[in-house]
Amino acid sequence: MKNSVIAITFMLLAACSPKEPGLKDTFEGKFVLGAAVNVRQIMGADVKGDSVLFRHFGAVEPENCMKSAEIMPVFGQYKWDMADKYVEFGEKNGLEVYGHCLIWHSQLTPDFCYDKEGNLIGPDELKARMKQHISTVVGRYKGRIKGWDVVNEAILEDGSYRQSPFYQILGKEFIPWAFQCAHEADPDCELYYNDYSMHEPGKLNTAIEMVKDLQARGIRIDAVGFQAHIGMDYPDLDLYQGHIRRVKDETGIDVCITELDMSILPTITRSADVSMTREAWQAALNPWPDGKFPQEAQDAWNARMGEVLDMFLRNSDAVRRINVWGICDSDSWKNGWPIPGRTDAPLWVDRNYNLKPFLHKYAR
Ligand code: G3I
Repeated sequence: MKNSVIAITFMLLAACSPKEPGLKDTFEGKFVLGAAVNVRQIMGADVKGDSVLFRHFGAVEPENCMKSAEIMPVFGQYKWDMADKYVEFGEKNGLEVYGHCLIWHSQLTPDFCYDKEGNLIGPDELKARMKQHISTVVGRYKGRIKGWDVVNEAILEDGSYRQSPFYQILGKEFIPWAFQCAHEADPDCELYYNDYSMHEPGKLNTAIEMVKDLQARGIRIDAVGFQAHIGMDYPDLDLYQGHIRRVKDETGIDVCITELDMSILPTITRSADVSMTREAWQAALNPWPDGKFPQEAQDAWNARMGEVLDMFLRNSDAVRRINVWGICDSDSWKNGWPIPGRTDAPLWVDRNYNLKPFLHKYAR
């Protein structure tokens, strides 16, 4: 009750106060700016987060509520409530609404690819189930979702295909099938392939081959999603820019930056130092658990993220949309990965709901 009163109050205040320009206004004509939203923000329980969203962003993605395991916990049995609320939330707040994600090996409905005995189903059954799921979900929101991440993370860093259940059953044919089903369900909807580590040459080469194959078959694909979960020491930005250009130049379609975040914490791989105890590794991964990031670390983060944004602006002819993977630092999944309980600061808005300094030349 208290939250809803606060939410209503805030919305009334927002409705009365003059609309101050935000980041989305600054970047209008360059690219659409969006953010992933969580359940609290969709439900209006994160009043401060929502006010930042409404002022600075013009689009939303669902962090979790449209993934198959969340929307269809058992194959064919749907829980529409949160997905419906997400779409309504975007529409009533004048935001472009994007869908994430239709076919993914993770957060996957447990029985999607298996029979009652727990064996992988056959190719015809999988094609039927994919068509049923995709046409049900895309069809439900036809004309209301601007673009869908149709297939997520199907390629590994070396360019080989991930041995997901979809691939094990259908080979790479599951990909054109997914795009075809999505297009039939909503012919006007934009369709994307989405993946992380798109700075890896092998992955990029295979992604470009995939796009060209879809195009040769006359199957719609509008953009490649570069998730852009990046770090302070990867990727090299010239390389990343080159990969964005390769997609545009070799396929003619755009790139969407779909899940941008940049950890302020050190990238440490335990294998790099086998003598490191688990405790030492965890401490090294979470050096500032109190969230008091040294000014030097903050300055370095802002400098690099400023270079990242400048690169996207220089290539705005090829970058259709930038979506940050959360509204403020406390929302980020990076506070729980690769170990639970980290304190990271990977997003554009800090824990006090303020834009970070690299953005101050664009908006406050
Ligand atoms: O919904 C359950 C809740 O009922 C339960 O009480 C709680 C505690 O166990 O878990 C909740 O599920 C969590 C889910 O997020 C919803 O909050 C899962 O444990 C948690 O693993 C899941 O994490 C999500 C992660 O994908 C899963 O791989 C992150 O929030 C989400 O930001 C992240 O996003 C993915 C993109 O979709 C695809 N690209 C990579 C990116 C990062 O993994």
